[in-house]
Amino acid sequence: MGRSDSGNGNKKSGRQGGNFRKKSYARGNAPIKKNTEPQKPSDPNVIRLNRYVANSGVCSRREADIYIAAGNVTVNGKPITEMGYKVKLTDDVRFDGRRLNPVKKEYVVLNKPKDFVTTTRDERGRRTVMGLISNASKSELVPVDKLDKDTTGLLLFTNDGELSQRLKSPKNGLRKIYHIELSKPLRSADLKKIQEGIAVDEKVVRVQEISFVDNAPKNQVGMEIFSSRNNIVKRIFEELEYEIVKLDRVIYAGLTKKDLPRGHWRYLTEQEVINLGMIK
Ligand code: URA
Repeated sequence: MGRSDSGNGNKKSGRQGGNFRKKSYARGNAPIKKNTEPQKPSDPNVIRLNRYVANSGVCSRREADIYIAAGNVTVNGKPITEMGYKVKLTDDVRFDGRRLNPVKKEYVVLNKPKDFVTTTRDERGRRTVMGLISNASKSELVPVDKLDKDTTGLLLFTNDGELSQRLKSPKNGLRKIYHIELSKPLRSADLKKIQEGIAVDEKVVRVQEISFVDNAPKNQVGMEIFSSRNNIVKRIFEELEYEIVKLDRVIYAGLTKKDLPRGHWRYLTEQEVINLGMIK
């Protein structure tokens, strides 16, 4: 695919043009007429090579410039070192021989409110979490796991299928902390039973930590758990005949609810994405 200055047919503008105009006028030439031609819309299927590389997630755009200049990137089999080179989304772009996928990976965390179901579509017409993040991306983001309709708190969405699979995998043991409010105080003996491991469907659930919430009534409990089995928190307490009246996920894989009001979402920072990527 072609070069930057011939790629989309737009006339060059900016600094270079400005200097040229000034000089010509000083020499007594007639001032150059402004280009009033309407600009052609740029082709959405053509992007700069550095953006293509950055979108594929291997590095930032600035770093991509360095790798391009160093000859790490090929387009349709040819090494390209030219700045501003443009490519089609369908071109074969490789970084150190590995083919890249230019779909930008996006990561959004939502502080889920009550009464939204974690499905992409609901046949019963209930409100879904998708409606809450609908303006976050043009790409199709999907929730990495599920919170029950009446559970609140952190829910991660992404179009990065590979990361999503990795986070879902039971062997990864993602750290999740829940704030639980029970319909009655939790007996210390039952707290101990949970600490020791309660069997749910004949499989013991290991709880990393469980304790009463400081300066709160004894029906308020904090629990850290790695298991990602469905409804696992409710099922643990059901085994001991407690009813959960409020369940809030306050930490998910290192992400917190800090500065994220209920019902709001935000993009993950670059560092947060790197941290998630390190979960093997
Ligand atoms: N455990 C539950 O029981 N429900 C949730 O929504 C999340 C974890």
